[in-house]
Amino acid sequence: MPLVSGKLLLEKANEMGFAVGAFNFNNMEFLKAILDGAQEEEAPVIVQTTESAIRYAGIDYLAGMVHAVKDSYRIPFALHLDHGRKVSTVLEAIRHGYTSVMIDLSDRPYEENLNTTRRVVSICAPLNIAVEAELGRLVGIEDNVESDEELLVDPQQAKEFALRTGIDSLAPAIGTAHGAFKFRGEAKLDYDRLRKVKELTNMPLVLHGASGVYYEYVAEINRYGGEVAGAKGVPDEELRRAIELGINKVNTDTDLRLAFLATLRRLISEERRNIDPRKFLKPAMEEVKEVVKRRIRLYGSSGMASLF
Ligand code: G3H
Ligand code: 13P
Ligand code: ZN
Repeated sequence: MPLVSGKLLLEKANEMGFAVGAFNFNNMEFLKAILDGAQEEEAPVIVQTTESAIRYAGIDYLAGMVHAVKDSYRIPFALHLDHGRKVSTVLEAIRHGYTSVMIDLSDRPYEENLNTTRRVVSICAPLNIAVEAELGRLVGIEDNVESDEELLVDPQQAKEFALRTGIDSLAPAIGTAHGAFKFRGEAKLDYDRLRKVKELTNMPLVLHGASGVYYEYVAEINRYGGEVAGAKGVPDEELRRAIELGINKVNTDTDLRLAFLATLRRLISEERRNIDPRKFLKPAMEEVKEVVKRRIRLYGSSGMASLF
């Protein structure tokens, strides 16, 4: 199937009240796990690369793999640039057939974020490429910020930003953080703020830093020599509530990393005579696929491929 615009996926999700899974990849193993998992769930999906993924593998490899395999899949899916910081990266992504981009200047002054985002929209809209932007900042417990109230999205500002930029989706900061250490105590998302942003914008909303940081993988990593004690993510029921209140794209990277590494660590430790990397990588890839499927079911997007 040809790639579809991120606009199409998220508009439908907004209309129907579910979320599309957006999963990060840096290599063949993660890409295949994501697409195979989504296909088994008959779900639309978004595969996404950050700028650091592009630095790691090269955009020719990342986009090249996607274009090479897209016709092997029956599900609608988009290729998205995650956390693009520079307009030049957006242009590079467009040249490589991305169908969705994020321009993320959420840590810059508001007017700069707004003006650059508006410029990106003016480039992408005629090409039917979706544009996502972010307001507010995501901070985790590792960032050592005492009060994060002023870092959360301002709903009135979100409305103004959406109108003035013409973006297709917005990522509002509502208390999540990237990585495996999201919360000091209880996981707390600001649902009132989310509800207000949805009411005022009525547009597809994106949740970053949404990984569940599942206990079984953290425990396995620690059992086999890792040190990720104290890791904490967004519990499934909290995520479900956020989707009910209007989240239509859920970003997951950390959960895939944890599943992959837990499996690798265990197998490398148990199978000491094996020197064929594929015997480690294949089960790790399978485990990533299981997490993708679990997440897709949680988002309510299983079976939704038939809508497109
Ligand atoms: O923001 C998304 C990621 O989880 C961080 O990804 O290590 O590829 O920059 P990265
Ligand atoms: P996690 O670190 O919670 O997986 O978040 C990933 C993300 O937001 C990618 O943009
Ligand atoms: Zn993110």
